[in-house]
Amino acid sequence: MSADLKRRAAAAALDFVESGMKLGLGTGSTADEFVKLLAEKVAQGLDVVGVPTSERTAALAGSLGIRLATLDDLPRLDLTIDGADEIGPGLVLVKGGGGALLREKIVAAASTKMVVIADASKVVDEVGAFPLPIEVNPFGFGSTRAKIVDAATALGLVGPVELRRTGDGSTFVTDGGHWIVDASFRRIPDPEKLSAALFEIPGVVEHGLFIGLATAAVVARADGIDILHP
Ligand code: A5P
Repeated sequence: MSADLKRRAAAAALDFVESGMKLGLGTGSTADEFVKLLAEKVAQGLDVVGVPTSERTAALAGSLGIRLATLDDLPRLDLTIDGADEIGPGLVLVKGGGGALLREKIVAAASTKMVVIADASKVVDEVGAFPLPIEVNPFGFGSTRAKIVDAATALGLVGPVELRRTGDGSTFVTDGGHWIVDASFRRIPDPEKLSAALFEIPGVVEHGLFIGLATAAVVARADGIDILHP
């Protein structure tokens, strides 16, 4: 059911795509659905170029015949289509469940518009139930993690802040060679404050709160599609 809803959100997002566009291509199972549907349109003659937000998406999009570029080739994009782990009020997002948050945020910030695609389970009244991914430099990890805990505690946010591991127990490494901690605060009442506090910590590379980036969200419900705006 959820896979079907992801596909329907992805299909509805194709309405935002026009021939000639420079597109950011997101990461995750919902973004994969979009890439597959986009590739079908490209095979039918749609002329777009895509900047992938991960090696995973680059491999998928490339294998399906979508023309790819980098932000060095194309510093400004028209539209990014990407999934999210949570969609909160004002289209504040939590992203990074798939570990691609840094490239996803760079690509979204390079885009005039960012359209989020998701099934309705991702829409929340307050973000934070999904553990917040925070990308950190491996150097000084222990100190950086302690500073993240301190900064969160000062904002009244308490919960495990755990190094992400892969299925075999090794440390998860991002496409950029960094590590991720997942912060289970359960609720984040003031995302802007937490964002600012995290950026004060030198070892923090990026975090998964996307604030002021999404221009619309295409949300698939069992009985239809909602288009949400900030
Ligand atoms: C990837 O790092 C994430 O930001 C994804 O966009 C997010 O986890 C949503 O993934 P799904 O579409 O697989 O739920």
